[in-house]
Parts: sequence; C-alpha cells; structure tokens
Amino acid sequence: MITFKGIEVKYGDFVAIKDLDLTIKEGEFFSFLGPSGSGKTTVLRALTGLSRPSQGTIMVADNDITHKSIEKRQIGIVFQSYALFPTMNVYENIAYGLKVRKMSRQAIQKTVYEIVDKIDLSREQLQKKVSELSGGQQQRVAIARALVTKPKILCLDEPLSNLDAKLRHKLRTELKMLQRDFGITTIYVTHDQEEALTLSDRIAVFDEGNLQQVGTPREIYQEPATEFVANFIGEVNKVSGNAFLSMVDATIDIDTNRDVYMMINDIDVQHSDNAIPITGIIDDIEYFGFYIKYALKTNNNEIIKFITFLDAQRAITFERGAQATVYIQPNRVKQYSV
Ligand SMILES: Nc1ncnc2c1ncn2[C@@H]1O[C@H](COP(=O)(O)OP(=O)(O)O)[C@@H](O)[C@H]1O
Ligand SMILES: [Mg+2]
Repeated sequence: MITFKGIEVKYGDFVAIKDLDLTIKEGEFFSFLGPSGSGKTTVLRALTGLSRPSQGTIMVADNDITHKSIEKRQIGIVFQSYALFPTMNVYENIAYGLKVRKMSRQAIQKTVYEIVDKIDLSREQLQKKVSELSGGQQQRVAIARALVTKPKILCLDEPLSNLDAKLRHKLRTELKMLQRDFGITTIYVTHDQEEALTLSDRIAVFDEGNLQQVGTPREIYQEPATEFVANFIGEVNKVSGNAFLSMVDATIDIDTNRDVYMMINDIDVQHSDNAIPITGIIDDIEYFGFYIKYALKTNNNEIIKFITFLDAQRAITFERGAQATVYIQPNRVKQYSV
C-alpha cells in the first residue's frame, strides 16, 4: 500500500502539488489522469525519489520513504522517452540493473531471458543496438529493464504517448496483461481519458496540482465529482439550467444560473418511477462494437447524447428519426458549485 499524506511539492515558489492525500492499494493498476501541467509527473517524481516534497509523508507499506534514496525504494520507472542507454545493446540495457547488483553472469542471463519471454521480444533482438529497434520495441525494452529487478512498484509516465495509435492500443493491452501476470502495484500516468478508463482499477484525476476525484473508471465516468472531471472525461451532457427546465416534462428544483450535467446510459432508457423524462427525436446513431451512442434532439433543439450497451438480455435500440424518451434518475442530474 502506498500512502501520500499532506504532500506538497514546490518548484521555487510555485506550488505544483497542494496537500495531496491519496492511498494506492497493493497490486492495483492505478492511473494519474489529468491535462498537461496538472502535476502528474510531479507526484510520480516525489514517489520515486527524483524530487523531494516540501511537506507531508509518503509511506510504502509501513515504511516512511519520504526522504529515502532512490535506490532504496525498489521502484521501477518507465518514461515517455525511452531513456535507454544508446551505446549498449538490448541485452545490456535490460541486464544493467542486475549487473549493478553484482549478480552472477548465469543468474543475470536467466533473469533476462525470463523477462524477455514474457514481454514479446525475441532472443535475436537482444544483440541489437537499441537504435535498431522500432519505438514500440524500444518501449518494451524499457519495460523489461524496469521489471527485471523485480521492483515492488512499477511507475509508467506516459509510456505510450510517442507511439502511433495502433501500436498504442496493442501495447496497452499487453501492459495490462503483464501487470496481471506480475501482480505488481502499478502507477500509470496519462493525459488520455480512454487509456485511463480502459486500463485502470482506479483513477486519480488531477487539475492544477489538485486532486479532483479518486474512483473506479465507472465511478469517474458516471458520477464525475467536480465540474472539471465532468468536462475532462467528455461524453457528458452539459446544458444550461434554463435549457434543461424547458426540455423536461416535470417540476424539478435546479439552479437556473448554473449548468446541468448528465451522463445518460441504458439504465436511464427504461421507464422508472421518480425519473425525469426527456423526449426527443433520434438525430444520429454511432456504432461502437459493444455499445451504441445516440444523439437525441429535444423539443427545444438541444442535443443530448446517451449510450446503450448491446448486451443481449436487455438491448434497447432506436431507429434514426424515431421518437424516444430517456428517463433520468434525479441523482444523475448534477450541478456543481463553483
Ligand atoms: N522543473 C520544474 N521547474 C519549474 N516548474 C516545473 C518543473 N517541472 C514541472 N513544473 C511545473 O509544475 C506543474 C506540474 O507539472 P508536471 O507535474 O510535469 O505536470 P504533468 O505531468 O501533469 O504534465 C506545471 O505547471 C509545470 O510547468
Ligand atoms: Mg508529465
């Protein structure tokens, strides 16, 4: 278990991380999600020992590591830029951390081969220079190098963002499987919502050095805790208070001076008591494999998006141009105070 308690990190006078309290569980795949400059890397640097917090403590299990040296923390790190040793071949790059530990030649070879087999690099590639490898292969080497010393925690800072979309998807799936295999507590930094939602057990969302929300992908997606999270995750419907009142056929207590946010999916498509009906015409349909995204044009010409999952039991589908009603639970209509 990793615990950040009252962590503040400064660059000169600039406070990059403010009073962070956060707990990451053993074996969890945990993501730091937020826009560029929100402080994700700064938190990771404090955890790995690359920078020192000005306040607070970081605990790993029962050990206070706030001021421990990097070497003593047993943390593997992979950065966006592969940061491999360019003059060494692939084998030497992966073996480096073991050599430093003065492991025997045979033990090093055995350990390197074990890891290489797991991460889909071939034995032939081991003798190549790192510059002869593709970006994806180089990033695999970086991951192997981080894992070979059997760290307790693996930190990945935007490890896939230099790769093209197809490779990014492939490596993302591999990473998730690797993490399951090793059961290693993993912290994954990304600015990509979809990446965080698909990979993570839980996500921490950051904005301007402040932790906005911690939750499972489903919680973050369906119940964004702040206006920032609602906007950042996307897919959320945002209408003005007045527009909302004129599209619903019910008396409902909302503040017309503030925007209304709604995440609508198939739990809102079937009629239920106390629900708020919104009626319109299906204006557009997008198919995404296991779900369908609909755009509903309301009687006051707002576009409301909602999704239905294509699970066979209760698949509800609509035709384009058909009249449709969604029934939103009142607690899923959110207004955030500023
Ligand atoms: N070495 C540094 N010196 C001064 N400011 C920095 C330094 N590193 C990061 N910052 C600032 O701290 C904030 C958080 O940066 P960072 O943790 O790198 O964000 P992220 O990883 O989310 O993109 C940003 O405003 C950034 O400009
Ligand atoms: Mg960063």
